[in-house]
Amino acid sequence: MFGTLDDLPDDRRVLVRIDVNSPVEDGAVQDNKRFARHAETLAELADAGHPVAVLAHQGRPGRPTFVGLEGHAEILSDHLGREVRYVPDTYGERALEAIRGLDAGEILLLENVRMVDEELADRTPEAHAESALVETLAPEFDAYVNDAYSTAHRAHASIVGFPRVMDSYAGRVMEAEYEANSAIQEREFDGEVTMVLGGTKADDLIYVMERVEHKVDRFLLGGIVGELFLRAAGHDVGYDVEDTEFFDEQWDEGEGTIRELLEEYGDRIKLPRDLAYEDDAGERAEVSLEGVEKETSFLDVGSETVAEYESLVEESEATFVKGALGVFEDERFAEGTVGVLEAIAETDAFSVVGGGDTARAIDLYGLEEEDFSHVSIAGGAYVRALTGESLPAIEALER
Ligand code: 3PG
Ligand code: MG
Repeated sequence: MFGTLDDLPDDRRVLVRIDVNSPVEDGAVQDNKRFARHAETLAELADAGHPVAVLAHQGRPGRPTFVGLEGHAEILSDHLGREVRYVPDTYGERALEAIRGLDAGEILLLENVRMVDEELADRTPEAHAESALVETLAPEFDAYVNDAYSTAHRAHASIVGFPRVMDSYAGRVMEAEYEANSAIQEREFDGEVTMVLGGTKADDLIYVMERVEHKVDRFLLGGIVGELFLRAAGHDVGYDVEDTEFFDEQWDEGEGTIRELLEEYGDRIKLPRDLAYEDDAGERAEVSLEGVEKETSFLDVGSETVAEYESLVEESEATFVKGALGVFEDERFAEGTVGVLEAIAETDAFSVVGGGDTARAIDLYGLEEEDFSHVSIAGGAYVRALTGESLPAIEALER
C-alpha cells in the first residue's frame, strides 16, 4: 500500500502532480470535475500550511489542445477561493525563483509539464528519475504527492520519476479513485455484480469483458458497442449509415472476439431488445429488434431495454458503469443512460460510474454524486483498473 496525506509530516515543501487535462475550446480551457476534485486536495495541503507547487499537463505536442496552463490556474483559483499563482516555466530559472518564493499555504502552478520533452520520453522509471526535470525540481521539495489518478496509466517522468528519489504520497483523488475502481478486482461481493457497458469504443470494452470474466455476473450493453454485439448476434444493426464512422472498422477488428464472447458468456451478456432513433418529425421513436431497418442511425436503447436494465441493476449488489447507453447530451436520447443511472442511485448497492464523459450525465440531469459510491474522473486509468492491470503511478508510489 502507499502512504497518503494522513502520513505526510507537517511543514513540508510539497510538489503535487494533478491531472486537469481538459477540453479546450477556441484556445480556452473548459472547467470540469477534474478541477473541483483536485482543488480539494490542494486546499487540504495549503490549509495544513505546506508551501505547494503543482505540476500538470494539458494535451499532447502537435494537438490543438496542447496549451499553457494560465487558464487552468484561474479555474483552480475560482474553485479554491484563493489565488493559485502561475508561472510560464516548468523547471527553469523563473520556475525556481517562484518555487523558492513560496510561503506556507501558498499554491503555485508550474507550466504544462508536457512542454518538457523528457516528460513523454520512452524511458524506464530509473532513467526518468535522472532527467533534468526531476533532478532540478526534486531538491526544491521535501515531499512529492501524486493526485493524478487519471494519468496513473502513463509511465511519464512526472509520474514515475519523482517517487524514485523523493518521499512520496498519494493525494486524496488518487486514494479515492484507486480504492473504488479496484474494487471489482479486489473485493468480494455477496450478491450479483453488474457491469453496464456502452460508449463508442469496442476495443476498450472487449478488453475489460475478457478480464473480468469471473468477477461479473452480467453485462448490460448499449451504445455503439451494444449495436456491434447485436450485429454479431444476427441483427440488422451496427452498420455505418449516412456518414457515421463508428461501426464498420470496429466490426472488422472486433467481430471474431465479439462472437467468441457471445458464445462463451451466453446469457450473462444482455443486449438491447429495442432501440430509439429520430423520426422524420424529429421526435424520439422506438423499434423492437424484430422490426429494425439496417439503414437507421440509432441513438439510444429503447424503453423496454431500459426497464429490463433498471430491474437488473436493482437486484445487484455492485454495479460498475463504463460508457453511455445513448447520446445522452440530447435529451431525447438520454433515457437509457439516465434511467440506468437513476436506478443505481436509488439502490444502496456499491456503485462506480466512469469512463469518458459518462460521469457528465450525472451533472447534466441533476443526479447527486453522493448517491453513487464513486464517480470517476478517469478514462484510460479507469479501464485499466477494471481489468486489474497494475498502474505505473501506483507501482511507483508503493515502492
Ligand atoms: C486523460 O485525460 O485521459 C489523461 O490526462 C491522460 O492523457 P493522455 O491520454 O494524453 O496521456
Ligand atoms: Mg446509492
